[in-house]
Amino acid sequence: MKRMIGRVGTVLTATGLAASVMLASCGENRRKADLSGGAAIRTARPGTLSYDRGVWQQLLSDHNTIRRIVKFTENGVEATTESDDPMVAARIIDHAKAMQERVKTGAQVRVWDPVFADLFQRHSSVSLEVTTTDKGVTISEKSDDPEALALLRSHALGVNDFVRSGHDAGRRETPRLKAGDPVPVSEVAIGGVPHRFLMTQPDGVQVTMLKTAGVSKLVNFRKAAEHANYDEAGAAKSADIEYCNLPYAGPQELNDELLDQARAAIRDTEKDGKSAALHCRTGNRVGPGWAAYRVLDRGVPLAQALAEARAIGTHDPLMESKTRDYVRRRSGGDEWAALSIDSMSEGQKAAYARAVEARDTMFQRLFAALGEAMAKPAPEGGPAGAIGVCKEQAPKIAQRVAKEKGVMIGRTSARLRNPMNGAPNWAATVLSGMPAEPRAMSNTDGSMGVVLPIKLSSACLGCHGDPGSIDQAVKTALAEKYPKDQATGFKEGDLRGWFWVEVPGK
Ligand code: HEC
Repeated sequence: MKRMIGRVGTVLTATGLAASVMLASCGENRRKADLSGGAAIRTARPGTLSYDRGVWQQLLSDHNTIRRIVKFTENGVEATTESDDPMVAARIIDHAKAMQERVKTGAQVRVWDPVFADLFQRHSSVSLEVTTTDKGVTISEKSDDPEALALLRSHALGVNDFVRSGHDAGRRETPRLKAGDPVPVSEVAIGGVPHRFLMTQPDGVQVTMLKTAGVSKLVNFRKAAEHANYDEAGAAKSADIEYCNLPYAGPQELNDELLDQARAAIRDTEKDGKSAALHCRTGNRVGPGWAAYRVLDRGVPLAQALAEARAIGTHDPLMESKTRDYVRRRSGGDEWAALSIDSMSEGQKAAYARAVEARDTMFQRLFAALGEAMAKPAPEGGPAGAIGVCKEQAPKIAQRVAKEKGVMIGRTSARLRNPMNGAPNWAATVLSGMPAEPRAMSNTDGSMGVVLPIKLSSACLGCHGDPGSIDQAVKTALAEKYPKDQATGFKEGDLRGWFWVEVPGK
């Protein structure tokens, strides 16, 4: 990574090693943790109000390094709060456990803030579970008491404000929702960022709630046809919120123009000192524009920007590849060149081996999932039922393997069944030659791209073979799920397509 982390990041990273050792050894006993930071943490006794307050103040100071995902349910809240900085992560864990103990005993904090004071009063009707994650905690809170539930929701949104604005929000009274108010829309908060990243499609009431919370612009990445019964532009208008629609269906439609527009929409909002709420159906389509904006307009390191995109909900490997490609080209890079597999450096050999290993893992899991689905009785199983499984499972398997192996991976073809299975930009030229052998490309930033051919075996014919001999139930299922299917008419031994793997540079 050439770009330096910002000033705050550099200082904190210097303590990263010591902090990670500490994290590993602090275990369940938060009272032994050395959380050196603010003076209060160093001098006060753990468990005292001034100690807990010191940890809290330090978290507000470090809010730029924190991310928080809050899901609202009918009777509770699930919040994951994390930081890539091990020291901050340790403080998040310490703070969560301290608050858990305080809620158990009703030992108040922030007595001047009515939401906090009232929530502590109702502590006996709240159940609170704290689970540590790699980088922080997941807290699950529930209550059957409508008053306590409204306070839990207010508190969760208030903490998101702390993450967004640090001490500024810490000094303000937490906005209060009333018992019986509608469920707020689930959202992701990113440290130091004024915007909200919604995890679902908001409805009209939720749009109004966003407006009340200070949001002045709604950015929607969905196509109108996806929410045909709901007029979001109209909802925005009646809530007096600016509306911006940048529709695209998935990775196959993610292009430079769209990313340019997403960046401009965010820049415009910030120029006026306002905040936006960005959404699609799950958050998947929000991440690419956000990551591109962060790197190119705000100088945030690419790794951090992509981690934010993942927190927002972008897990599609092809979207990540396209985002990286766009960022590279817009910052004057993008030097892909063919690489001979027989004359690689040691480093390149290792990257290539990683690509092949990722392909092997993905292939095995796809094959296992397919076999399992085919073995089940119809209509859920059998060849026709297995099509639904493929549609459901194939993208998830790719996402999981990508995450585990630290690569981007997918399958593509010159005759696609699913139009979402397009190829990364770097692969277009090499694939136009229909290579029947593996091919590799390298980029000047150290990234490697690999394509590995997929040959058709007899096991594939039932769904990719001659249409005349494909089972009628399979044909019906294909026509329903893939109206633009081009992936039939293959024979055993044919080149069906390719796995593509992108191994990111250091
Ligand atoms: C039960 C039916 C079924 C069988 C058997 C099957 N496939 Fe597929 N195949 C599908 C479906 C459905 C998709 C689309 C998956 C998606 O939505 O991503 C697909 C997609 C693909 C793709 C991704 C590119 C594209 O066109 O979307 C490749 C490559 C592929 N199959 C190869 C194979 C090979 C090789 C075999 C044999 C080992 C095989 N398939 C067996 C149903 C099947």
